[in-house]
Amino acid sequence: MSVDVQDLAGRPVIIGGGIAGLMTALHLAPEPVLLLSRSLLGADVSSAWAQGGLAASLGDDDDPALHLSDTLAAGDGLCDADAARRIVYAAPGPIEDLARLGVRFDRTPEGALTLGLEAAHSRRRIVHAGGDGSGREVMRGLVAAVRSTPTIAVVEDIEARRLAVEDGRVTGVLARCSTGPVFLATVRVILATGGIGGLFHDSTNPLGSCGHGLALAARAGATLADLEFIQFHPTALDGPGRPMPLISEAVRGEGATIVDETGRRFLHGVRGAELAPRDIVARAVWRHLADGHRVFLDVRKKPGATFAQQFPTIASACNKAGIDPAHDLIPIRPAQHYHMGGVAVDLAGRTSVQGLWACGEVASTGLHGANRLASNSLTEAVVCARWVAESVAASPQHRGKPAMASDLPPPDPRPVRPLLSHALGVTRDGEGLKEAARALLLLFQRHDTASDSAAVGLMIAIAALQRRESRGAHFRTDFPHHAAGARRSQITLDTAVAAARELASSPTPESVS
Ligand code: SIN
Repeated sequence: MSVDVQDLAGRPVIIGGGIAGLMTALHLAPEPVLLLSRSLLGADVSSAWAQGGLAASLGDDDDPALHLSDTLAAGDGLCDADAARRIVYAAPGPIEDLARLGVRFDRTPEGALTLGLEAAHSRRRIVHAGGDGSGREVMRGLVAAVRSTPTIAVVEDIEARRLAVEDGRVTGVLARCSTGPVFLATVRVILATGGIGGLFHDSTNPLGSCGHGLALAARAGATLADLEFIQFHPTALDGPGRPMPLISEAVRGEGATIVDETGRRFLHGVRGAELAPRDIVARAVWRHLADGHRVFLDVRKKPGATFAQQFPTIASACNKAGIDPAHDLIPIRPAQHYHMGGVAVDLAGRTSVQGLWACGEVASTGLHGANRLASNSLTEAVVCARWVAESVAASPQHRGKPAMASDLPPPDPRPVRPLLSHALGVTRDGEGLKEAARALLLLFQRHDTASDSAAVGLMIAIAALQRRESRGAHFRTDFPHHAAGARRSQITLDTAVAAARELASSPTPESVS
């Protein structure tokens, strides 16, 4: 670590070095800010792995109203319509900001942005950079911009372990760096820690994305929202590698089909077929696998000969797995990909805890509802980062209270993975969720290295148990239909623990409803 963090007390502290964290830091400049990254800046963050790009209504045939209507339709009745409207209408602006910061977006020979198609979008509106390497290119541009901004102090190899809260207000961050525990006194903390894929066996996220920000917020007393809605991507490369390589939906946008071992396009009868909303395609693939079939992506005819050129990252992952997409079918299965739920925030990123903001995947603005529309997440991160920064800059600024730094062991998600993978996958049922909730409660109460991951898993399991319907990415085989009057869900760590304790002591179906 090259900076003495004690000299930086009082600055806003951003936890997380993905697109949301970096953009928030850049928008806060020239206000001095401290950015904490668990590894080398730009490494091991989901943002850098994003193949899809940023959705924005930029085409001549497009309109923000159409983008909004696609977002609301994919969200299956649970989006916050006002939040969605404000975000999609603001979407084109940050793309210009990113281009100004040096991000090289894919363009036509005439210089216009190339617009791709992904599932459930009624228009071509996905802006890519470097083909299927959009996240990598956006991160390259942002990391360079952050490194050359003198007011942003970046501390690498540091992990936040707890937030200090007094009388409902943040007073600092307890963290661990290479030299030991440190306490960072601050009254302004921004969570930008990404998602939860590391809590599942099969995920397209970096292993370190294991709900760390959700645990920090929940232990600080924050309210979380929509935790039961976890997106499974239908086309992860089915091989031994973990995390699983993603095969972007953009490949289906260019005409690739999903077939089984007999060559049958079993999605043919589904409205939208391969480009139906992601939850629908994921469930169809999941069921076909459960019925004993093998499932493949066929890119041989379309995109065909241009596949490797258009999708170099995916072509390379296939080659590493011994698959030549020009001649072979690509084996696929669904894998955890994105969390629609998160820390409940308003559009300025404010959580229910004073002095705590959240931005990006860790936050739940209500944009995604029950099922995220492809490529809306990077858009949300870059749009909201500006609003978060404005809110942080306008909030009271004083040094937090110094405190002793105590050491806490690093979180270990391994005991939680089998529980979540089994009970909180593409389909769920009440019995499986209850069993998982009881086991997660026991793990949480052990107060050891698995406790933070267990807390996150427990809140998700209880939220899934309490939603006695199927909607978007949350499919309950025991409640397979929509329920009337469904709303977004809210939960805290205390209410989840209380519900799980009640469940453990009186295991009736109604006990947590
Ligand atoms: C993909 O490229 O299929 C993923 C895009 C996204 O998750 O939004």
